[in-house]
Amino acid sequence: MKVLSVTNTKGGTGKSTISLILCTCLAAEKKKILLLDCDIQSTSFEMYQLEESPLFEVRKSDVSKLERELIKAEKDGFDIVFLDFARFTEENTEMLSFLSICDLVLIPTLGGIIEILSVQKFVKFLKASNVSHSIFLNKYRGLKEDKETLSILSEQTEVFKSHVQDLKLFKDVNLSSSILSTKEGQKRFKLFYDEFKILLS
Ligand SMILES: Nc1ncnc2c1ncn2[C@@H]1O[C@H](COP(=O)(O)OP(=O)(O)OP(=O)(O)O)[C@@H](O)[C@H]1O
Ligand SMILES: [Mg+2]
Repeated sequence: MKVLSVTNTKGGTGKSTISLILCTCLAAEKKKILLLDCDIQSTSFEMYQLEESPLFEVRKSDVSKLERELIKAEKDGFDIVFLDFARFTEENTEMLSFLSICDLVLIPTLGGIIEILSVQKFVKFLKASNVSHSIFLNKYRGLKEDKETLSILSEQTEVFKSHVQDLKLFKDVNLSSSILSTKEGQKRFKLFYDEFKILLS
């Protein structure tokens, strides 16, 4: 079983959205996928509850119960588990201990100098714990490609070559089909997904 997380120190950068979309893509490939929603806001869990026929499962979990949930997930035969956390803060040593056991941490950034500083700090923690990680640009809200941010970050760590495009064609994330099942979805997400799959293998 692999454990992944889309996480960073910033709120509202698309952690839950991208996690859910990746889950649908992997589930459409017949993988058994679980997302453990560890955020008190429960964004992912609430979306899951609204969905009639989701391709994968979402369970709510408190960070303090996460170890037990992961053992249960392994027993239940899940191939991949996503951990959806609230934003990371340095004091949150419990969360860091779970990030340390992740096979891969993806770090979404909206770009810009303030983001660079916080991403750099976060990357330091991950490097100290030897966690595989890669940064990607989430280009929504009409963001242009921020080459400067990406080149500064890529001097220090892994950065995706492709970006997540604005996925506003989906009013809400649809958990019952893969974004890659439509032409428009393929156009906006396939390159990023292909790069993600290489990291995952
Ligand atoms: N690539 C994208 N295209 C369109 N909308 C996006 C994209 N990424 C994020 N959003 C939108 O931005 C908002 C915040 O996203 P999301 O809730 O996934 O962020 P988050 O990092 O999980 O936030 P939080 O820190 O509150 O958990 C949502 O309304 C989501 O639909
Ligand atoms: Mg979230």
